[in-house]
Amino acid sequence: MSIYGATAGTELEDIIRRSEEGEANGAVIYQALALMARELGLAEEAQIFSEIANMESHHSGFYAVMNAKYPQAFWDVVRSIQQAEENADSRMPQTIEKVRALGTPEALLPQLKVWSLSVLRSVIMAKF
Ligand SMILES: [Fe+2]
Repeated sequence: MSIYGATAGTELEDIIRRSEEGEANGAVIYQALALMARELGLAEEAQIFSEIANMESHHSGFYAVMNAKYPQAFWDVVRSIQQAEENADSRMPQTIEKVRALGTPEALLPQLKVWSLSVLRSVIMAKF
């Protein structure tokens, strides 16, 4: 049995949407704390907060699916997010230059390039 859309259009839709938003915000906060802990040399705390962030992200996604936040056509959504990632990726060189102009250490700049596009691309290329 699918959870997709289980609460969409029901009296629970609003509370599930708020829960999804709260969990998504939590994911950002915990991931930020993980990065801040890493910069402070607190490796164990960084790992813990990163794991909590991943759990919060999972919870947020669960609620999003319950409310059918995204269309059920899986590969259509994947293609859509891939396009969004590519658009963001195309703007990244300009962003990196602006961050560099602020005096950000060169060692930190590669982190801006790494994120999810390569993972998405490999998933999609394997399929098409
Ligand atoms: Fe949670």
